[in-house]
Amino acid sequence: MASNRIVSWGNEKIEWSDDLLLNMEAEDDDHREMFALMNQIFSTARLGADMVTQAVADLCLFTREHFAREEHRMERTGYPDRDAHRYDHEYLIFQLDVLIERLMISGPDHVAEELVDLLRRWLCDHILTVDAAFAEYLREKVREG
Ligand SMILES: [Fe+2]
Ligand SMILES: [Fe+2]
Repeated sequence: MASNRIVSWGNEKIEWSDDLLLNMEAEDDDHREMFALMNQIFSTARLGADMVTQAVADLCLFTREHFAREEHRMERTGYPDRDAHRYDHEYLIFQLDVLIERLMISGPDHVAEELVDLLRRWLCDHILTVDAAFAEYLREKVREG
C-alpha cells in the first residue's frame, strides 16, 4: 500500500561521515548542510506530499547556491577541470528537476526510491571524487605558493 511505502521511506537516513571532509571549511559546511536537508526530506516523508515537495525544493535551492559558490571558486582559482565539474553539477540539477516534476505529478511514493538512490549515490560520489579532486588542486596550489 502506498502509505506504507512512505512510512518506510521516512525511516531512511543518509549518514554524514568525516570521510567526506575535504578540509575546506566553506565546502565542508555546505556539504554537511546538504546532508541535513536530505535527511529533512526523509523525516518529512510521513507528513505528506506537500511537505516532501517543500523539503526537496529546499535541498534543490541550497544545492544550486552551493554549486554556484563552488563554480565561482573554480573560476577564480583557474581550476583546469572546471567545465567537467560544472557539467556534473548541471546534470544533478537536471535529474533533481525531473524528479521534482514527477513528484508533483505522481506524488512522493512514485519517486521515493529513485530520489533516495540519486541523493545517496550522487552526493557521496560527487564529493568523494569530483569535489575531492578540486580540493586536491587547491591544496597543491597552496603548497606551490
Ligand atoms: Fe562539486
Ligand atoms: Fe560540493
